[in-house]
Amino acid sequence: TRDRSDTLRTPIVAVLGHVDHGKTSLLDKVRGSAVSEGEAGAITQHIGATAVPLDTISGIAGSLVDPDDFDLPGLLFIDTPGHHSFSTLRSRGGALADIAVLVVDVNDGFQPQTEEAIDILKRTGTPFIVAANKIDTTPGWNPQEGEPIQVTYEAQSDRARSRLDENLYEIIGQLSDAGFSADLYWRVQDFQANVGVVPVSAMTGEGVPDLLTVLMGLSQRYMKDQMTIDVEGPGAGTVLEVKEEKGFGTTLDVVIYDGTLREGDEIVVGGLHEPIVTEVRALLQPKPLAEIRTEKRFDRVDSVGAAAGVKIAAPDLEDAMAGAPVRVVRGRERDVVVADVESEL
Ligand code: GTP
Ligand code: MG
Repeated sequence: TRDRSDTLRTPIVAVLGHVDHGKTSLLDKVRGSAVSEGEAGAITQHIGATAVPLDTISGIAGSLVDPDDFDLPGLLFIDTPGHHSFSTLRSRGGALADIAVLVVDVNDGFQPQTEEAIDILKRTGTPFIVAANKIDTTPGWNPQEGEPIQVTYEAQSDRARSRLDENLYEIIGQLSDAGFSADLYWRVQDFQANVGVVPVSAMTGEGVPDLLTVLMGLSQRYMKDQMTIDVEGPGAGTVLEVKEEKGFGTTLDVVIYDGTLREGDEIVVGGLHEPIVTEVRALLQPKPLAEIRTEKRFDRVDSVGAAAGVKIAAPDLEDAMAGAPVRVVRGRERDVVVADVESEL
């Protein structure tokens, strides 16, 4: 039953996959940004979060999406590193996710961290779709900037199309070996029983309309119960990063996945030695489409509702840990919340 303050929150979408398969580039295409180019060796080394509003999604998806079909406010994307040494960060990203995009280079197919990502998704029971990326590198490809996959397909020679199809069926076979029945997304009727594969290019934007449409459709159709929360409830989240911020001292980049966090709230954060009890001094929110990991400018806000990425400024955060839980005490016994946080560490 829905209570008056129950609202549909933004689904959290983790982007997982092997190093260099194009996770950050795909998000760059959606954001209209160039985060990947700014990374040392184009290697992501942290988890990021980006809020993508519904109007941006509708703008990219074009005729594939009727914005009236959706009452979800948008999608919160979590970027994760694919380099083998960042296994903890991948697990953390996977654990936060309501749904995931497994990015696979269509030429390389499954690689070690693709397998690892699949294991994380199995373990956490997270539904996912596959973005078969870099379709523009298919020999003889005739790129159709930003177009849905059907339009792109029709513009290809038989030779180019069958080369791509071969690669796509290879990936579908690898998914099947991993225990997932899969098919090209437009052939999938029941996304709970089958994994949909969406051919895309982060470079040309081909298939990106389809990817966003499928993500919205899946969240809306299968996860409404999970997305219905009491927005007025005490906020809960996970620390992505602990960072020094000029003028604010030690701050936390956090993903809030439940309730609301307000300035002045008493919060409990998992710490190196024991849970930290402190009070929120300032909440700094990246603008829509900005990556919290790289953004320099933030809006100071009074409150943040789930799901969102937010930077928390508060005293005594020096011993806070990335990956630790954050809980708002509001209306509850502080000791109970502290015990709660302790049990999650
Ligand atoms: P990690 O975060 O380190 O795991 O890598 P990533 O998966 O985020 O890959 P990233 O987006 O940084 O892309 C790696 C390289 O592949 C970059 O040089 C991109 O320009 C290139 N690339 C990504 N997507 C595409 C694509 O669709 N087509 C082509 N041609 N190149 C791509
Ligand atoms: Mg990356």
